[in-house]
Amino acid sequence: MPHSDFVAALLQRMTLAEKIGQLNLLSAGEGPETGSPATRNIEGRLAAGQLGGLFGTKSVASVRAWQEIALKGSAHGIPLFFAEDVIHGHRTIFPLPIALGCAFNPQLWHDVARVAAIEASAEGINHVYAPMVDIARDPRWGRIAESPGEDPFLAARYAEAMVRGFEGDDPRAPDTVVSCLKHFLAYGAAVGGRDYDNASLSPEEAIGVYAEPFRAGVAAGAGSVMGSFNALNKRPMHAHRALIRGWLRGTAGFDGLMVADYTGIMELAAHGLGDRETVAGLALLAGIDMDMIGEDYLNHLPKLAEEGLSRPESGIDIPAADIRAAIDEACGRVLALKERIGLFEDPYRYCDDERAASLPLSPPHRRLARAAIAESAVLLKNNGILPLAPGARVAMVGAQADDQTNLLGTWAVSGDHRQAVTLLEGLHAGHTGPITCVKGADIVDDRILADRLNVHGQTVFLDTRSAAVMLDEAVDAARAADVTVAVVGEAKEHSGECSSVTDLGLPAPQKRLVEALAATGMPLVLVVKGGRPLALEPELALADAVLFAWFAGTEAGHGIADILTGKVDPSGRLSAAFPARTGQVPVHHQAEATGRPYPGRFEKFKTGYLDLPDTVAPATGLLPFGFGLSYTTFAYSKPSVDADRLKGVDATATVRVTVTNTGARTGTEVVQLYVSDPVARITRPMQELKGFEKITLAPGEAREVAFTLNRRDLSYAMGETMTSVEWVWDPGTFVLKVGPNSRDLQSAQIVWDA
Ligand code: NOJ
Repeated sequence: MPHSDFVAALLQRMTLAEKIGQLNLLSAGEGPETGSPATRNIEGRLAAGQLGGLFGTKSVASVRAWQEIALKGSAHGIPLFFAEDVIHGHRTIFPLPIALGCAFNPQLWHDVARVAAIEASAEGINHVYAPMVDIARDPRWGRIAESPGEDPFLAARYAEAMVRGFEGDDPRAPDTVVSCLKHFLAYGAAVGGRDYDNASLSPEEAIGVYAEPFRAGVAAGAGSVMGSFNALNKRPMHAHRALIRGWLRGTAGFDGLMVADYTGIMELAAHGLGDRETVAGLALLAGIDMDMIGEDYLNHLPKLAEEGLSRPESGIDIPAADIRAAIDEACGRVLALKERIGLFEDPYRYCDDERAASLPLSPPHRRLARAAIAESAVLLKNNGILPLAPGARVAMVGAQADDQTNLLGTWAVSGDHRQAVTLLEGLHAGHTGPITCVKGADIVDDRILADRLNVHGQTVFLDTRSAAVMLDEAVDAARAADVTVAVVGEAKEHSGECSSVTDLGLPAPQKRLVEALAATGMPLVLVVKGGRPLALEPELALADAVLFAWFAGTEAGHGIADILTGKVDPSGRLSAAFPARTGQVPVHHQAEATGRPYPGRFEKFKTGYLDLPDTVAPATGLLPFGFGLSYTTFAYSKPSVDADRLKGVDATATVRVTVTNTGARTGTEVVQLYVSDPVARITRPMQELKGFEKITLAPGEAREVAFTLNRRDLSYAMGETMTSVEWVWDPGTFVLKVGPNSRDLQSAQIVWDA
């Protein structure tokens, strides 16, 4: 897209060095860091006009101070933009993104992003590195915590709602921020779930699954996209011209700013693409506009712009003119972003001490954070023990029962755990009976692991008492109470960046705690905290109720107590399947059709695992995508379609189902629509999510829910290569399935002719 007259005129006046300076992006280092910056000399860079944007500031005062230096250092008065990782809230921390995904509620996602934008922008930030929209199907990968989960349709809705919430209607409004879809592409498909590892995907999966939320987020107006660390099908993403310039800018129509991830350009050298100078040229030509942290653009583009990049041994021959044109293009995008958000008119437009003092953690923001917990926590089991009986004597057990340090979860870089409500505090405020609280067990008992988990501040405290003494204390407390609420699970940094694991079970001391509590025979409720799906097969068998609360954020204690006491109905539904055991991963509901088991005769040739019971679906997990209980029960009518035979491109099919609250309490249900395409040109997933609607029904109330599908909804991605993928549609039979989760579905059939 051509630049505005303003940007074009400014570019004309700028020197090559000034343009390259705009492509440099550094961290202010005022919060946690995930790598070693190439320089700490930000003042020097600013004074020399060698910085386009800064991330990681923590106050209006600091934004103002950096901006002043930047304006003095720029011959043309070009302001800085200020970015930050605002992943699940800024100061008011919401449940983790994987938890928010469980809400199946675009309005909530929008509102969460809006609040985050209001808080961040009040502190001078005008660009956020969110939403993270990496599809994640392997819970060994720690960054699944930041992702909306396993499903492309859900993630696409999440992406567009978040983008709209962050960006608002007016990019110049001082309470809106530029959003950033990340990480492009397939970071979540890292082999073995190992963070930073590469991904190999079919073109159909890369574009049809992993790129879907990017397509939706771009269409919703995302102002920026961040590259991902991995190579995809052997091509490192920071140098992936075909996907960045071809698919993202071409097919998806993205015309915003493309930023590198932290040292992502520098790391191309470690990927084996050449020396630092080479990789700077490759990244620029691939379409990465800004270099985060590594300073390879700053160091190498001046020479490349004079001499071009010639590496005959690697088949690289880029004329200097192409490098200069790409620098102009990239710089134009940085300037366009600054122009779009009004920084040239007023470089301080996002700096407002009064807003900064009053908005973060304000009562309405906390209220939304509390309400979000009911929508994102997932009730996995309940034999009737929940909600807690009023007046019941409760034993709260667990290292995290009265702990603030682990509440916020990973990537809450501006959150302050001292502002967060513990589960014990929350239950005290919401429950009428007496409550005792004991620790019972450490989170982990391995010192080396504890040190690693304490990487961003101490959250794991190893007790000086023996494990046996702590267990005895827990058992005594359980025996003296009517019901035990054991708070178990991961520490804050168990999941997150660089936090992959090989074992998805509860850490050993907490496993033993659950076993000891269950052995008392007293009623046992587990509140499980985690940033990833865990393998809870044994605990689900032992406990009377299991609430998976994720990391619930600032209002954790209140929000979880609201559920435990029955003040609200838990309406979270799993955004990613839970495996029975670690060895089962990856698991997800879009398992592909295979040739076995062949119906009837060869039953012995099963496709699953010898050591998993037949009751566990081998590919889709123990608890499937979309699963979650309510405090009431719902009945579904058989779905009906308005016409079972359709024809033509413009036809639409509407499927209807009536859902009735058959229990005694008001409750909220997520009605889900899946589609199967049994005959196609390629192997297809057994089913795909194509619609969802969240409804609240009073006891006895019934409501009809209708989903309308067009041909695009029933088409699928197909191509020999990622860049030749097209969305195709085959006439014939489609099965439309409706139900409360991806497993328990009733179906109707249609035939759609060409
Ligand atoms: C590295 C992470 O991968 C990315 O998500 C984040 O935005 C940057 N660091 C900046 O903090």
